[in-house]
Order: sequence, then structure tokens, then C-alpha cells
Amino acid sequence: MSVINSVLIENRIFPPAEALVERSTISGRVAYDALCQEAETDYSGYWARLAREHLTWKKEFTTSLDESRAPFYQWFADGTLNVSYNCLDRHVEAGLGDKLAIIFEADDGQLSRITYQQLLARVCQLANALRARGVKPGDRVLIYLPMSIEGVVAMQACARIGAIHSVVFGGFSAKSIHERIVDAGTVAVITADGQCRGGKRIPLKPAVDDAIAMGGCEMVHSVIVFQRTGDDCSMQAGRDVWWHDAVREQAQTCEPEWVGAEHPLFLLYTSGSTGKPKGVQHSSGGYLLHAALTMKWTFDIQADDVFWCTADIGWVTGHTYIAYGPLACGATQLMFEGVPTYPNAGRFWHMIQNHKVSVFYTAPTAIRSLIKAGEISPETHPKNYDLTSLRILGSVGEPINPDAWMWYYEQVGGSRCPIVDTFWQTETGGHMITPLPGVTPLVPGSCTLPFPGIQASVVDETGLELEWGKGGLLVVKKPWPSMIRTIYGDPQRYANSYFPADLGGNLYLAGDGAMRDPNTGYFTIMGRIDDVLNVAGHRMGTMEIESALASNPLVAEAAVVGRPDDVTGEAICAFVVLKQARPSGAEAAEIANQLRSWITKEIGPIAKPKDIRFGDNLPKTRSGKIMRRLLRSLAKNEDITQDVSTLENPGILDQLKQNA
Ligand code: WTA
Repeated sequence: MSVINSVLIENRIFPPAEALVERSTISGRVAYDALCQEAETDYSGYWARLAREHLTWKKEFTTSLDESRAPFYQWFADGTLNVSYNCLDRHVEAGLGDKLAIIFEADDGQLSRITYQQLLARVCQLANALRARGVKPGDRVLIYLPMSIEGVVAMQACARIGAIHSVVFGGFSAKSIHERIVDAGTVAVITADGQCRGGKRIPLKPAVDDAIAMGGCEMVHSVIVFQRTGDDCSMQAGRDVWWHDAVREQAQTCEPEWVGAEHPLFLLYTSGSTGKPKGVQHSSGGYLLHAALTMKWTFDIQADDVFWCTADIGWVTGHTYIAYGPLACGATQLMFEGVPTYPNAGRFWHMIQNHKVSVFYTAPTAIRSLIKAGEISPETHPKNYDLTSLRILGSVGEPINPDAWMWYYEQVGGSRCPIVDTFWQTETGGHMITPLPGVTPLVPGSCTLPFPGIQASVVDETGLELEWGKGGLLVVKKPWPSMIRTIYGDPQRYANSYFPADLGGNLYLAGDGAMRDPNTGYFTIMGRIDDVLNVAGHRMGTMEIESALASNPLVAEAAVVGRPDDVTGEAICAFVVLKQARPSGAEAAEIANQLRSWITKEIGPIAKPKDIRFGDNLPKTRSGKIMRRLLRSLAKNEDITQDVSTLENPGILDQLKQNA
């Protein structure tokens, strides 16, 4: 682990508007400080109070934080609840049954609307169908669905019967599905015939069939298929059933499974620095508390808001801020099937205008691509749309560069709307460091201060807290309710990765470098300290891509690094040694394309290397270690100024300068 020093100096400050401070749930710095103080004085009492106020319990808990098996922390463990009850029934019981829960806009612009009462009925029907097919509490169910109301219904239905879902992003390959089915011992799959994105119809079900056919999936007894495109789709008798057939006879009520607060709600696979993707396991009670609380405090969600999070349900952002958070608060949300650039790059702005979206949450990579698009096709620039309904903007997934921040603030938010730059991770369950709209003066590019109760800090390699102004490792000093509980099937890897002994064994290591501003204590995230890449807000391990490349019959050896990219933040650059002689010209381009298709099949299109470079070898030290820092410089097309005297084969560097 290396300590990073840098970064840009940013002097602009945007204090919250007076009117916003007044109407916000957490209003003013004094209120923020009071919450932090409360957590400081009685940490477990603070979270217990919030868990009682924001969640509905079947059986009240008597203990809040249990540290006896650290780092396997437990929260509210003797309480029981049901997540879907908290997201649906309790609002219906409170008279909000007719309130819109989801406005769904399909790729082609077609709209569907569903109220809380209707959503509850559909969740109950699917929950009953799952039970009827023998899915039991604690069983793992893999969900491979497009962005759809059904996606949310599927997740909520699992929660209702205490089954543990594992959502796989619709862009992932059969191989990725297979890995996840096997790792989790999945018993059922919920998928669709296909999906519609950017005017194209893309099949989904064949990937599930291929995955199951890869072997080791004998425990999958049911595949439920939602009909989206209506395209031909093979159905295996006995195992496969259409969603509409499975729910037809089912009742619209379903007694929830009351589970302990620690009962796993879901697994979500994400990349780490080594090995295969890990199944991050989240709890029911603690996770839901943070989902609800961050909706209320970070997004200041109010009864009349229209919330829109543009993430896919295959990512953690789509879990916490589509499937759970907005529903836990009884909010109305917009959900979108398609892509931001179809039919043109004004789609987001058009949708905000049409649906009067008031709280909008997206990723820096989307903003950067829309800035570019607006320059090329001025008619798609946000100024052509009425965006006055917006009151709060959010950013997530990667650091937002100050230029993109300013554009988002001025061109989208009309210089009226605070931007909450929310730092968090799959493992943290919800926001960790973020401005609160009615509290925090904003500085472009900084995620500012910890969410009240979260004890974030910056330390050196030995776990020693650094003074403000020094770059180091981002850590969290105390367990919090929505934290990862374990890596499914690999508790040791959980303990080693997140609570490393080097840091003393009791600090949560986020895996990011960070620095606090010497005056304000504001946090700036400086990017991953490990071999995890962040491409367009998607986490990928260099190791995963390297092993996928190395498994291609043409490839002898491969190394992958990230390089900065204007739009996607980072881009993947692969250095490849083939078993055959080093190709050049048209042949090199042809093989590079073959390798890109290979990666698409092995992992998914998001892992395709942008640059591929062929060499007779990779730059190695005499002891055979690949010199990645040289590869990073080559990827950036920098001159090599580093010491190459330990390099066994310096001549290789020239070969690796050219893209295939
Ligand atoms: C990065 C996504 C800077 C960071 C919710 C983290 C960010 C990784 C921000 C987690 C932000 C996320 N500013 N960096 N606001 N948000 N990151 O698990 O490197 O897909 O460790 O969770 O994204 O990615 P993940």
C-alpha cells in the first residue's frame, strides 16, 4: 500500500441557500454537529435511536451493536423485521396506497406507473410463486433482469420471503452468471427473454441457459422468465416458467417472513484487488436503516419529491437508491430502461422536464459524456429544457472532476441546486462521506464530510491517524449498521481485505487514497490504492481481466493497467504477449478485436480493453516481476523517466508504445 500525495487546489465554495437550509430535514451545521456529538457520546445508542425511529420492527431489538465477534459485527441482532414490509405494507397501512411508487420509462418512451398498493400486490404474487416453487428463507436467488419494475418486484419478493438475492448486471456474460450461481449455491434464477436499450433488443435468457449448461448448477430448480421483448426464447420444461404464468393464480397478499435483523438480504459480487469477484453480503436491518436514513438526510427526500437515480439495479447504487431506499421512505421515483444517449443525448434532460424530477442522482462519467455530446449536438444541451423542477443533484461512483462539477452545477442545476458528491462502496451499503444539502458548503471535487455517525479518517500504512493536509489511506474507525457482513463463503478473505493486520485489525480499509483539507477537514478521494480499476463508475480488478485474457488460446501472458480517460475516468489498457510472433498492422488490429470479443464473452462488454498493445514480452525485473509502473507510464504515453536499470529486457518498451 502506498501513500498518495497530491492534489488540486480548489478555492471555490458554495454555501447552501438560506431557503434550502430552512426546509431541510437536517438544517444547518449546528444540527449536523449535534448528531455527530450524539454519536460520539453514545455510539450504539445513537444508531439504536435511529433504527427505532426509521424502521418498523416486528420484535424490538434489545442490543444495538455487538462487537463480541469482531470484525464480524452485528447490529440490532435480536430484533425481527421484514424489509419488504418496511418498503411497502407500512406505507399502504399509513394510507399512502395510492401514491405512485415508480414511474417507469421504457427505452422507446412508453410509460408505466405503479402505486404502492399495486407494487405490494405484485411483490406478494411473485413471493407466493417463489414459495410455491420451493424457495425457502436463506435460499439464494440470482436475478438477471433489465431495468424494469419487475427488477424491483423480484428483489422485494425475495426480501419478503427471506430469500437472498444476487443481482447480476444485465451486461454480464454467461461465464459471470455461472461463477455467481456456483459460488452462492443458487436455487432459482429470475430473468427475462431480453432487454431493450438504445433502440436495440438484446437477448438475456440465452446467457442464463449457457451458464447453467456449464455445469455445477444442478441445484437450480427454477428459472422464472419475464417477457420483455417477446422474441423467441427457449424454455426447458419443468425448470423454466414464464413470469406471467407463475404469478397468474397467486394471491395478492403474502405473509412476510419475519427475519432477524442480521438475516442476509442480498449478495452483490464486486471486484477486489486479487482473485475472483467476491460476494459482498449485506444484512436486513442495518442495511435498510442506512438506505432509509441517507434518502432522508443526503437527498432530503420529501413527500412531494420525484427522485431519479440513473444507476442500474445490477450495481449497489441501484440496490440502495432504487430497490430499497426510495421505497423505505415512501417516495415516488422515476426508473429508466434505456441509455442516456438514445434517441439523443438530451434524453436525461427531457425526462427530468417531463416527469418534473426534483432530486437527480447520476455518475460523473454520464455527466462528462453529456457535456461532450452537448458540444457536438447543441440541441441536446440542458439549456434547451426546463429543468426548474430540480432542487438537489447527486453524484456517485468515482471522483467528479471540478470542471464536470461546475457544468453540472450551472448547466443542469441552474446554480440553484446543491450537488451531493456521495462517496461510498458496495461494501458500505450506503453513503459514507457526503454533503447534506441544508448543511454543507460545497467545494467542487470534494465529497466533504462524513455522514453523521460515520467515523471516517485518513491513516498511514501502520494505521496511525494523519494530520489534515496529508494524503493517506481512507478508513472507517467504527463499525456502522449497513456495513458488509462477510464475503459469502470466505470469511477469512473478508477479515483480511477489510480489517488488515497492518492497520491494527480494527480499522475498515476502504481501498481508496484520501486527503483532508487542512482548514475544513473536507475529504477528497484520490482513487484506488489497489489494483482495482474504475471504468465509468464500474469496479473491475486488473487480475480478473488479466486471467480472462490469459485463458484465450492465443495469449501467452497479459498485464492490464488503467490510464486516465476524459469520459470514463479510467480506461483499460492491456499489454499482451501472444504465443505466436508479435503481430503488426492489420493482423494486430484483427487479433485485438478477437481479444475484445473474448473479454465480452468472459466478463462482459464493460471489461473490454480500450487499448491493446502487443509485445514479444512484458517489462520484467531480473526476478521476473512485471514492472507495472512502467506499463502505467506507457499506457499514458508518457516518456519513460523511471529507472529501468533493473529491467531485464529494456528493448521491449519501444514495442509496447503502440496501440494495435
Ligand atoms: C469510487 C459505488 C470518489 C471509490 C457506490 C470507491 C468514489 C469505489 C465516489 C466503489 C465518490 C464511489 N468520489 N470516488 N463520490 N463514489 N467512488 O463498490 O473508488 O461500485 O472505492 O460502489 O468507487 O465502487 P462501488
